[in-house]
Amino acid sequence: MKNLKIKTFSEYQKQYEFSVSNPELFWDGVASTFMWKKKWENTLTWNFEEPRVSWFEGATLNITENIFERNLATKKNDLALIWEANEPLAANRTYTYEELYHAVNQCANGLKSLGVTKGDRVCIYLPMVPELTIAVLACARIGAIHSVVFAGFSATSLADRIIDADARLVITSDGLNRGAKQMSLKDVVDEAVAHTACIQNVLVLKVTDTNCSMTETRDIWWHELIPSQDIICPATEMESEDSLFILYTSGSTGKPKGVVHTCGGYMVYTAYTFMNVYQYEEGDIHWCTADIGWITGHSYIVYGPLLCGATTVMFEGIPTYPNAGRFWEIVEKYKVTQFLTAPTAIRSLMAFGEEPVQKYDLSTLKIIGTVGEPINEEAWHWYQNNVGKGTCPVVDNWWQTETGGIMISGIGGISPQKPTFAGYPLPGIQPVLLNQDGEEILENEQEGYLCMKAPWPSIIRTTYGNHARCKEAYFSNFEGYYFTGDGAKRDENGMYRIIGRIDDVINVSGHRFGTAEIENAINQNELIIESAVVGYPHPIKGQSIYAFVVCDHTLSDLDDARKDILNTVTNEIGKIALPEKIQFVSGLPKTRSGKIMRRILRKVAEGDLDNLGDVSTLLDPSVVDEIVKNRI
Ligand code: PRX
Repeated sequence: MKNLKIKTFSEYQKQYEFSVSNPELFWDGVASTFMWKKKWENTLTWNFEEPRVSWFEGATLNITENIFERNLATKKNDLALIWEANEPLAANRTYTYEELYHAVNQCANGLKSLGVTKGDRVCIYLPMVPELTIAVLACARIGAIHSVVFAGFSATSLADRIIDADARLVITSDGLNRGAKQMSLKDVVDEAVAHTACIQNVLVLKVTDTNCSMTETRDIWWHELIPSQDIICPATEMESEDSLFILYTSGSTGKPKGVVHTCGGYMVYTAYTFMNVYQYEEGDIHWCTADIGWITGHSYIVYGPLLCGATTVMFEGIPTYPNAGRFWEIVEKYKVTQFLTAPTAIRSLMAFGEEPVQKYDLSTLKIIGTVGEPINEEAWHWYQNNVGKGTCPVVDNWWQTETGGIMISGIGGISPQKPTFAGYPLPGIQPVLLNQDGEEILENEQEGYLCMKAPWPSIIRTTYGNHARCKEAYFSNFEGYYFTGDGAKRDENGMYRIIGRIDDVINVSGHRFGTAEIENAINQNELIIESAVVGYPHPIKGQSIYAFVVCDHTLSDLDDARKDILNTVTNEIGKIALPEKIQFVSGLPKTRSGKIMRRILRKVAEGDLDNLGDVSTLLDPSVVDEIVKNRI
């Protein structure tokens, strides 16, 4: 794979040209650097109508053999994983490639002893501890499909995901440490599992050492099952197109969808993009601050770096605990060479000034990255000047849960960078901007709907259990294209700038929520008739949630109603989806056919009151005056 590393911009241009004119040959070359049990017959077959995309058909492999067996000969004693605890003075934990290999095998054998086999779904609801990585890889080792659920989601959300995936096992912990707080997780799992019929066992790791109730025959302690297992577990042979994992993500309608990624293509693409975007070299220490509950953690904490034989850092805590220098203290402590975080974290740390950054030695950093949401120019410069000391290249990684890996991004130190622009597509990626009529916009300096006209190896294959939904959400808006849901602009040189979602998805601190899911949660309250939720710009979170709520006229205490709304959103989704502003209104602006005019509500939430547009076609235009008058 090393010879596929792009070292100059002209090499990038050459590789890009080749990858789009000969995609099969190009990806053949990348794929052949991996360890396959059987070689593929067809590199690629696809159509975006059904849709059906198949990479490396006929080939078999196991992704964990590519992490371990493929790397062990040269990296046995190199560090694979460094784990930093929430408390700065608590002991950290490290695993060499060999140690991680044994730990993964023991966990895999433990799962097998519980009857988990190839194709079974395993839900993982764990904090950021090494066992999370171990559990993910243990599933992959035996061909079980992991579905990691971020440990901030509520019992209801967890139950929905367990039921949708028809999981047989949940792996969780007694509790978690996050900054100054400790929270219980097992209680949440118990509540969730009570609403499901498919879970046979719950495997519980001790993290906080708090009391938790164990249900006999169903619940098993990790420390009683896993450490006594054999340290060798043969890898299950997987078809390239067998599912590797499911990860739930929000869209504009309905409940979150289970995005499915498959073994071969996901492996090839995450390793290739990690190596190039972060210009991986032997001995590099890569730290991505995301949680493994999101796609960024899957691809750039676990799979990408470990496939390349890098050392990956996992952090249990938060950027501001015990103080705003924590990230930089960790960079200094482990001599981190590549650092990747979200704009929201950068903006929240900017508020503490430069002193916490200046205190630490960040001279080991070579490349710094940003991901998850658009980065504003001020944050970009602050990041490069203070963290990158004005010299580290900043790579702005645009991609999605559905794309599996980075799609449009700078290649560290090699491609030109321009603040707020993600940059050029990576090799193999063919973005287009479409206009309202679905026609490709060929000129530069234009904006349009960002779509992809050809598949790449880690494109979403389906939405679990409901292929029609996958087609509807991504392949129906513009026939023959994958639609990202984002609007984008191309500059005079062909660099892309992501403007943001153009659908009903809100991105709060880099986390995706559908307006419909939040509205459904709010509407659970008996005295609420209906609601409409929109996003509005927030200086730190990027976007925040504004809810317009219509209550029954018998409701007298609005403060109570507000509390009820916050409670239901917490219970239905989790605290991460709480609306920052709740405005009670007597009605919502609707067209005569009953459709809510979100455009108007968005303008009100943004405070752009001079541009509300034509309201005369509304069923009752007077509601707009009232909404504007009482705007928060
Ligand atoms: O709107 C884009 C935004 O996040 C969405 C994808 O969210 P998710 O599936 O949770 O994946 C996040 C991590 C890859 C996109 O549709 N987004 C992601 N990265 C960027 C971004 N917007 C602007 N710039 C980015 N670098």
